[in-house]
Amino acid sequence: MKSATKDLENDHVHILRLIDIMERVTKTDAPDISDLESIVSLIKNYADGFHHAKEENILFPRLEEKGFSPHQGPVAVMLAEHIQGREYVRGMAENIKLCREGNNSALKYVYANMSGYVTLLRNHISKENNILFRMADNVLAPEDHARLLDEYARVEPVTPHGGGVTEYLSEIERLDNRYQ
Ligand SMILES: [Fe+2]
Ligand SMILES: [Fe+2]
Repeated sequence: MKSATKDLENDHVHILRLIDIMERVTKTDAPDISDLESIVSLIKNYADGFHHAKEENILFPRLEEKGFSPHQGPVAVMLAEHIQGREYVRGMAENIKLCREGNNSALKYVYANMSGYVTLLRNHISKENNILFRMADNVLAPEDHARLLDEYARVEPVTPHGGGVTEYLSEIERLDNRYQ
């Protein structure tokens, strides 16, 4: 059965694949800068812009209506972790820009932020899958799931070539093959 939490768990499968790629990238000495830029773009547009938008703008507000606090407890922790993730992404992007400008010593800061993001997101996704989404399933009725799925479907993925989610997934596939 399709459900509003399963839909997000399915996004997590692809995000975790990207995170595994990031972990392998941090072990390479001379990655293509364009691949680092592509990873940041996937996080910004897919993991954050698309997936976190479904959580922050659609699921979490519905959970608040069902009594979850946005200021404390699991929803508040998830929101704080999304913000922490954006800090790592900013650190990655700034240092990738320095690498682009020829400052090779910036790569270690790209990797430090990337590793921080990998650890944060693995824990974050595990908490969502195992704790928050299971609590959500206890309070969401079948009609809530249907309405949430309808609202998710209206979130527009932003991709460089306009190919939508398929474009994100094929770029993750390309990077996965490139960094084995
Ligand atoms: Fe999240
Ligand atoms: Fe999530």
